[in-house]
Amino acid sequence: MQKQIALVPGDGIGPDIIRETVEVLKAVGRRFRHTFCFTECLAGGIAIDRYGTALPSSTLETCQMSDAVLLGAVGGPKWDDMGGDERPEKALLGLRAGLGLFCNLRPAVLFPQLRKACTLRPEIIGDELDLMVVRELTGGIYFGERGRSAAGDSAFDTMSYTVMEIERITRMAFGIARKRKRLLHSIDKHNILETSRLWRETVKRVAREYPDVELKHMYVDNAAMQLVRNPHQFDVIVTENMFGDILSDEAAMITGSIGMLPSASLRHDNFGLYEPVHGSAPDIAGKDIANPIATILSAAMMLRYTFGMEEEAQTVERAVLQVLDAGLRTADIVTPGEEKVGTRAMGSAIAAAVAG
Ligand code: IPM
Ligand code: MG
Repeated sequence: MQKQIALVPGDGIGPDIIRETVEVLKAVGRRFRHTFCFTECLAGGIAIDRYGTALPSSTLETCQMSDAVLLGAVGGPKWDDMGGDERPEKALLGLRAGLGLFCNLRPAVLFPQLRKACTLRPEIIGDELDLMVVRELTGGIYFGERGRSAAGDSAFDTMSYTVMEIERITRMAFGIARKRKRLLHSIDKHNILETSRLWRETVKRVAREYPDVELKHMYVDNAAMQLVRNPHQFDVIVTENMFGDILSDEAAMITGSIGMLPSASLRHDNFGLYEPVHGSAPDIAGKDIANPIATILSAAMMLRYTFGMEEEAQTVERAVLQVLDAGLRTADIVTPGEEKVGTRAMGSAIAAAVAG
């Protein structure tokens, strides 16, 4: 198969980790006889510097014309003082909205090799943990009207949801739950927010289409608490945009693997944008230190969800586990007695493991 992939390396360590991921994808292409064509485009701080805007229209167009998008990370202290209108993060929101990527999948997986990095006591985290946070990504308070009063002494942000927006993310989540443990937690703030009341009513209605999946509702504050109290009660979590932003960081961190976790942002036709959960780490950019694994695992999700290449995806995931088993560690995950390697060595080892 031939596939067109738009690369958006972005800022900080973005170019370092994208470069290694491209090597891994090329190894997949050679092994399975696929042709992956890459087109690089700019977004984030680097695009502000060069074009005066975080998301140039040419970047959005290149992404729209591709089969999938692979993104590194955007942002950095250099652009931190800019107003809301031209921050690097605007590129992310623009891509999400502009590409219609309403469904954000954030797996939170405990790598047995990194168990020591987990912040929970061993008896709470257990031997394995594998959660999936399904976050609504193009609605809610992120995209509602916002502003300041004329006097500047008050401000507002608006959270709104339509039934259609809730239905489509709910169906995605039920579809995923059906392929896993058939348990779905819907997280809201139904006791306070009107959007949450609409959310819960809609989720309950959609649930009738999935009688084989157990549905539970939980308030977001309680969910935040339950995640650290007993994470094993969850399997798939579905929630609105901002709750999902917060809970997905929490779920990622309890695995101790935030630097290892991938994400996918999808729409109905399986088109998707793939990026690591971590940020741009500008302090270590270009120094051959960054961990490329989260981005490489994001590419594995791309193979699975957008290209339907399950065997290829598993090959990449197995290659990652294989190099971890061999004791290779980048600086962020190294503990005494293990072999510390740089970004390039980690990428090459995984590419070699893919080649078999
Ligand atoms: C994320 C990030 C973004 C978000 C920021 C960088 C805009 O935190 O992808 O979770 O809030 O969605
Ligand atoms: Mg976030």
